[in-house]
Amino acid sequence: MKAKLTVNKSFAISQIDPRIYGSFVEHLGRCVYGGIYEPDHATADSMGFRGDVKDLVKELGVEFIRYPGGNFVSGYNWMDGIGQQENRPKRLELAWKSIETNEVGLHEFAHWAKEVNAEINMALNFGTKGVDSARELVEYCNHPGGTYWSDLRVANGAPEPFKIKTWCLGNEMDGPWQIGQKTATEYGRLAAEAGKVMKLVDSSIELVVCGSSYYEMPTFASWEAEVLEHTYEYADYLSLHRYYNNHKNDLKSYLAGAVDMDRFIKGVVAICDYVKAKKRSNKTMYLSFDEYNVWYHSLQSDKSVKPWQVAPPLLEDIYNFEDALLLGSLLITLLKNSDRVKIACLAQLVNVIAPIMTDTNEAWRQTTFYPFMHVSKYARGIALTPILDCPTYGCEAFSDVPYVESIVVYNEDKKEAVLFAVNRSDESDIDFTVDLGGFNPIQVIEFIEMSGYDIKDSNTKTSGKVCPKNGSGTVLNGDKLVVPLKKLSWNVIRVEVGD
Ligand code: AHR
Repeated sequence: MKAKLTVNKSFAISQIDPRIYGSFVEHLGRCVYGGIYEPDHATADSMGFRGDVKDLVKELGVEFIRYPGGNFVSGYNWMDGIGQQENRPKRLELAWKSIETNEVGLHEFAHWAKEVNAEINMALNFGTKGVDSARELVEYCNHPGGTYWSDLRVANGAPEPFKIKTWCLGNEMDGPWQIGQKTATEYGRLAAEAGKVMKLVDSSIELVVCGSSYYEMPTFASWEAEVLEHTYEYADYLSLHRYYNNHKNDLKSYLAGAVDMDRFIKGVVAICDYVKAKKRSNKTMYLSFDEYNVWYHSLQSDKSVKPWQVAPPLLEDIYNFEDALLLGSLLITLLKNSDRVKIACLAQLVNVIAPIMTDTNEAWRQTTFYPFMHVSKYARGIALTPILDCPTYGCEAFSDVPYVESIVVYNEDKKEAVLFAVNRSDESDIDFTVDLGGFNPIQVIEFIEMSGYDIKDSNTKTSGKVCPKNGSGTVLNGDKLVVPLKKLSWNVIRVEVGD
């Protein structure tokens, strides 16, 4: 099979916001306790955070982390997590039917985030709390001092403000499972008032309002429109959440997930622009895709996890090679929409539907670790408009899925054009010709490839067999780069380009 991609240095989608390489740490299962935090671990730092996990988080290249939930946040009182650790209350955690010890709270997490060079994306409880709790937390985190809440932060050991810039006003507030679920009117009004007051406390912050918790919600679209009608003045981003599964073991449909993600994003952009037009506004609403991933492998086993445990083993999906291929194509889709998607968080980071797994001794990389790491490391700079000429296939949900999902990112500082491509075909290698117009390409620096595995292969603590290798066979001729894309493969090709 043959396919062709044409890009041009002058045809940019957007400068990529580094917050697109975000992830998510929720007080859920073994993400925090037994994941990032394990005071007894041989590599633990003075505050109890595992050094081996920190190293993998840094290798993954996560720069932005949503915290502390998720569904957890809708019943959370942030004040439970400040002050002396030994005095903190143990609580029934209703979202995941666990016990929350509150050993890790705001100060501990801020310490850890700094250690892994990540910015915090703070989520607020809009289920059981609202305006007061939100404005107090902004004052606690961001006000320099001389007021009740900022002085309390100083007294609790943080003389410098945490300077948290991005705040999520609640989580999935439309969901019947959410603690304190709301209608669009209830949530929209609350978010508008809280957002207004939070920006009075600190006018430099940015706010994310909740979109629908998933695309199939019966209120999808009308929820977004009404929430934005109420909050347009104060909101900077609208959230999107989407999880993929291969319950039907239908590879063709599963690997079409990126087409679904693209349709979802474009739909939400249309809703944002509808409200913009209706309000005759000059402000563009950006998107925060603050939960996306594969989630289904653990759904059955989670049913037998006993309630009311500290850090139970929940949502511990073990990812395989097809999941890595899907994740690579989802990441390309986020880049293709980087003019509107400014924030994205892979949900989640450690143990809970995560690229990093741990037990009490070891930490290891799941298959999905690699595409995320490659994109985070090499997709820096400007995403270029991809003009793709490629055969397509049909599947249950879509009639025209291209066999190749691809994009080129131009890194001006490094003088590199980096091609990312997934070959979805399970039958055919593809001769992929990329026309790098206007780049004056000099040489292929590196060709990284993941291919040749059984689609159900996964990594374990002792075997990291699903991992990237060096690819071969690229040919560069003038502006034309030809890359052999093996069937079912993830590919990254870094090309040195001229001035
Ligand atoms: O990421 C797991 C859960 O998925 C989050 O807590 C929730 O927001 C979503 O439904």
